[in-house]
Amino acid sequence: MGEFSWPTEDQLKEMRNKVSEMSGRDAEEVRVVVSPYRICPLGAHIDHQGGTVSAMTINKGILLGFVPSGDTEVVLRSGQFDGEVRFSDSAKIKEECKWGNYARGALYALQSRGNILTEGIIGYICGSDNLDSSGLSSSAAVGIAYLLALESANDMNVTPLDNIEYDRLIENGYLGLRNGILDQSAILLSRYGCLMCMDCKSKEYEIIQPREPQNGGETEFKKSYKILLAFSGLRCALTNNPGYNCRVAECQEAAKFLLCASGKAEMEPRLCNVEEEVYEAHKSELEPIIAKRAQHYFTENRRAAKGLKAWKSGNLEDFGKLISASGLSSIHNYECGSEPLIQLNEILQRAPGVFGARFSGAGFRGCCLALVDADRAEEAASYVRREYFELQPELASQLNADSAVLICEPGDSARVI
Ligand code: GLA
Repeated sequence: MGEFSWPTEDQLKEMRNKVSEMSGRDAEEVRVVVSPYRICPLGAHIDHQGGTVSAMTINKGILLGFVPSGDTEVVLRSGQFDGEVRFSDSAKIKEECKWGNYARGALYALQSRGNILTEGIIGYICGSDNLDSSGLSSSAAVGIAYLLALESANDMNVTPLDNIEYDRLIENGYLGLRNGILDQSAILLSRYGCLMCMDCKSKEYEIIQPREPQNGGETEFKKSYKILLAFSGLRCALTNNPGYNCRVAECQEAAKFLLCASGKAEMEPRLCNVEEEVYEAHKSELEPIIAKRAQHYFTENRRAAKGLKAWKSGNLEDFGKLISASGLSSIHNYECGSEPLIQLNEILQRAPGVFGARFSGAGFRGCCLALVDADRAEEAASYVRREYFELQPELASQLNADSAVLICEPGDSARVI
């Protein structure tokens, strides 16, 4: 495991004690789901169109301590949100205690595929260090935590690929977000220090060990970089942001047009169903905005493929340049982001030792990520803190000084311990 392994023994102990208090059971009976956050260096916003994505988890995320409840009731409390959530039926999204809807969604997803659950859970859920997790796929981390807990309580053996589908049902089916499968795939399939790469059309994936040809060892490579996360102070859940679903619809419009132009109108309108040659031949006929979305898809797919080669050969410089190019395409072609997030991205590009940077996740709010030379990570973090504070003093002052810029390590996949 990494130097800064997460969760620590103290965090696990605290979690077990909390659930023991809530349920009246022994702390030793409490199981804990560890569900990490993820970053996506290359392959932004192309998962919903069946493109190729790359991702890895970090050593921060969600912990869910639980015991089987002894009947079908689910009882939950949260470290971040008020109130107690109680239900034994997933049917309705509830407006009060909205945070419980991911758990209801998890039960809905499992039941909708014919699973009969006889055990609910009594659980306590909590995010790492109270950090603002927008842009790090906290919603998928939460959804997966509930899925794994309910499955464990009911002695179910579920493959990661089935859980990817169950989490898709929570987000697309229950919550109405039209996102792809990047987040949950990263959380369920990542392996420490490796890059997870998935073709979102076929769902085939590869776990890529890094190589360091010059110094001859994988360990050297893993030690040579850190993940820097810089928070903008802008917060908003994706489910409340119409921008995300609107971009998905624009990509579909591009796919529809290009499929019609090539006589394949009957195919599902996703850009992965459009041949590159067809795109090249007809791109000038697309409406300007739709053309930009298609340009992002096709160039991002190429960057992801190049990035995998760079990663495989241990070339962090090239990998980093591709991340930054991907970030520019998100700004100019996909047109997500906002002024503070774009400024933060620019600051990261100038920071000492940074190989490459871009928005993290959907990029409408939240944070930016960078890969940085491990020896210069502290220097880069101080630089980013200082410069962002100067440009956006109000937003920066809302951030907790300890977690405005974080130096993280790669993480592992989600698991129950
Ligand atoms: C969010 C979505 C993902 C993906 C990313 C952007 O995290 O949940 O499906 O589209 O944005 O790459």
